[in-house]
Amino acid sequence: MKLFIPGPININENTKKSIQKDMISHRSEEFRELYKECKIGLQEIFQTKNPVLISTSSGSGLMEGAIRNFVREKVLICVIGAFGKKWASIAKACGKEVDILEITPGKAIQKEDLIKVVSGKEYDAICITQNETSTGVANHLAELASIVRESEALLLVDAVSSMAGANIKVDEIGIDVCITSSQKCFALPPGLAFASVSEKALEKAKNIEGRGYYFDFLELAKNWENNETPYTPNISLLFALQEKVREIQKETIEKRFERHLSLAKRAQEWAVENGFELFAEENYMSNTVTCIKNTKKVDMKKVKEKMMPKGYFIDAGYRKLNEKLISEGKDSTFRIPHMGELTIEELGEYLEELKQTIMEVEK
Ligand SMILES: Cc1ncc(COP(=O)(O)O)c(C=O)c1O
Repeated sequence: MKLFIPGPININENTKKSIQKDMISHRSEEFRELYKECKIGLQEIFQTKNPVLISTSSGSGLMEGAIRNFVREKVLICVIGAFGKKWASIAKACGKEVDILEITPGKAIQKEDLIKVVSGKEYDAICITQNETSTGVANHLAELASIVRESEALLLVDAVSSMAGANIKVDEIGIDVCITSSQKCFALPPGLAFASVSEKALEKAKNIEGRGYYFDFLELAKNWENNETPYTPNISLLFALQEKVREIQKETIEKRFERHLSLAKRAQEWAVENGFELFAEENYMSNTVTCIKNTKKVDMKKVKEKMMPKGYFIDAGYRKLNEKLISEGKDSTFRIPHMGELTIEELGEYLEELKQTIMEVEK
């Protein structure tokens, strides 16, 4: 079955083979070599000199860790969809004082929105979703980061569905903590999460109590220096990550970003050619997932059922977003994900199949 959902996505043969390797001790030289190669590869992809910590969890684990480690009292969460809301829920569950800057779904945050909210306030951190998977909107981080940098707040970024697919220059932009998961643009199985962390953030964490144990970034960073983890990591997935960074180096990150951009353009064109509209506002469309307004009111649940015997498991839209849109009398949405190792030919085949199936359902 080919997965056309925005994560987890298909994994390739190389990944399948690498996770079957014999187990090794996580306190061995062999492990330290493995970890070292992974961490250097990740720094290249994140375009940072900062440590990129590796956690055996999904991205949500590090999102919670980031809140616990870098927010003493007050945090601003910028919400442009479901995953911003999720970060706000995490911060509230950690007992933090949470302010929310919420933007209409389909739109991105503008500099002016952020300026209005932050002026006169002192936040420990400001959290921004780079790529909102539920709406297919990508925020312009560099512009927003320049506002955050005018304050003392740390900039925490959720790049779960875009890192390794979109060009996110962590150091150039000045992101303190940038988080991603293995099951999206890395095209690995779920179960690993990565977070780059700046010196400023690590310094701040030293004076924050209640950082927790499993996601104590100081402990993770100390072990990172020695190419180790504080506890037993998922070694099989690290073997897969090692192969993945080699694959990405072979493709080159520049070509990988270009490929994702071409995939996004193709998906956007397909939507318009087939009489739909795009949900994300112009100039803020995601490189990794295209969200489409179902202006033709096609029964996407039926399309999903009919695509199954053709070998495709597809996305019929983000449930909560669709419920909200429908309750407001608006068109629902569905998404075309295009991330990982997907080629333009494979996307083309999928889009053709989707078109035919939509026609069958419309009859
Ligand atoms: C933008 C975004 N943030 C956070 C998450 C949560 O990540 P995970 O499922 O790896 O915990 C997701 C998952 O889909 C996501 O798309």
